[in-house]
Amino acid sequence: MNDRAFTAAQDFLLSAKTYWSTTMYRALRDSHGEEGSQTVADVAQAIEDSTLYQVYAWYERHLQRMKYAGRYGLVPYHNERRIDLLSELDSEDSECTQESLTLPAYYTVVDIHQHPGGVWSDGIAGFVYERGARTTTPLAGAAEKDVHERFTDLILEEWKPANILDMGCGFGKSTQPFVRRLPDSTVEAIDLSVPCLRLASYAAREAQASNVRFRQMDACRTDYEAGSFDLVTSTMVLHEMPPKTIEDLLDEAFRVLTPGGRMIHLDFYCLPDVFRRFIHYGHARRNNEPYMQPFAELQLSSLVSSKGFVDAQVAPFQESDRVDLDGNEAWRFPWTVISATKPKT
Ligand SMILES: C[S@@+](CC[C@H](N)C(=O)[O-])C[C@H]1O[C@@H](n2cnc3c(N)ncnc32)[C@H](O)[C@@H]1O
Repeated sequence: MNDRAFTAAQDFLLSAKTYWSTTMYRALRDSHGEEGSQTVADVAQAIEDSTLYQVYAWYERHLQRMKYAGRYGLVPYHNERRIDLLSELDSEDSECTQESLTLPAYYTVVDIHQHPGGVWSDGIAGFVYERGARTTTPLAGAAEKDVHERFTDLILEEWKPANILDMGCGFGKSTQPFVRRLPDSTVEAIDLSVPCLRLASYAAREAQASNVRFRQMDACRTDYEAGSFDLVTSTMVLHEMPPKTIEDLLDEAFRVLTPGGRMIHLDFYCLPDVFRRFIHYGHARRNNEPYMQPFAELQLSSLVSSKGFVDAQVAPFQESDRVDLDGNEAWRFPWTVISATKPKT
C-alpha cells in the first residue's frame, strides 16, 4: 500500500468520523429531545431500537475497526514497513524493558481501542498507536493546541514542579510537554508497553531531551522511593483500569509523592446528563474499553480522599475551544481533571 492511498483512506475515515460525531450525534440527541429520561436505562429504552441509533453505533464501531484493521488500516500499513520502523528503535536502551515484569491480566485480555494485539504485544505497536492518536480529539483543528499542551498549561499556571512522574505515558505524548517546558525539572515516565516506551525514548533522544527517562513499570507498584515526586500525573490511564487497580494506583501515587505534593490526572469522568452517560457507556462497549463504565461510576472524590489525600477536586476540562462542555453540539469524551494533595504532615 502506498503512502497516498493510506493517507487518503485515513482522511476519509476521519471525515466520516467527523460526520458521525457532529451531524449524526446532534440528530440522535434531538431525536431523544427532553424525553424526561431519569436514568441511562430510560435513554436506552427511548432510543436504542431506533434506526438512527443503530446506524450511529455501527459507524462508531466500524470506523474504528477500519482505522486499525481495514484494508488501508494502521496495522497493515505499519506491518509493511516493519523492518524499517524497528531498525529506528534498535539503538534504544534496555531500560525500557524489565525482564521480570508480568503484565496484569486486565491489560492483556482485551484489544483496547480495537487495536489488534493492544499497545503492548507487537514491536511496532507504538508507531500504530502514535498514528492513531493523532485523531483522539477530531474536532480540534490542526492549528489548535493539543489537549496534552492544554492540560500542561493548566498545571503550570499553578506552579512549576521539579520532580514529575507520568504514569502510563504511552509513546510519550503526555510526557513531552513537561519535558520541553520544564528543562530544569526531572521527569520519570513509566508504562507497561515496551513498544510505546521505546518509541517515546527514541523521540526524546531525537529532541535531545536529557531530563527524562522512560521505564517499564506498573504504575501500581513502582520502584521509586517514598516521597520522590512533587507531581504525579497521568493522562487517559485511569479509565483503562478496573476499580481495584485504580485504588492501587492511588495508593502508589500517595506513597511516591512528597508531603505537600500534588496528584493531577486527566481522564474521562464528568458526564453532565443521562443522555451523555448512555452515549459514553455505548462508546466504551464499541471501542473495547471494558473499564470505562466502572470508572465513570466510581465516587471518585470520596475514593481519592479515602486514600489520605486532601483537597480532592474533580472538574470538567475543555479540550478544545471548539467544543461545548455539555456536549450538545458534538460528541466528545468527558474530559475531566482529577486532582488532590498529599497533606504536609
Ligand atoms: C490511553 S494510553 C495514554 C498514554 C499517554 N498518557 C497519552 O496521553 O498519550 C494509556 C496508557 O496506560 C498504560 N497503562 C495501562 N495500565 C498501566 C499500568 N498498570 N502501569 C503503567 N501503565 C499502564 C497503557 O500501556 C497505555 O500506554
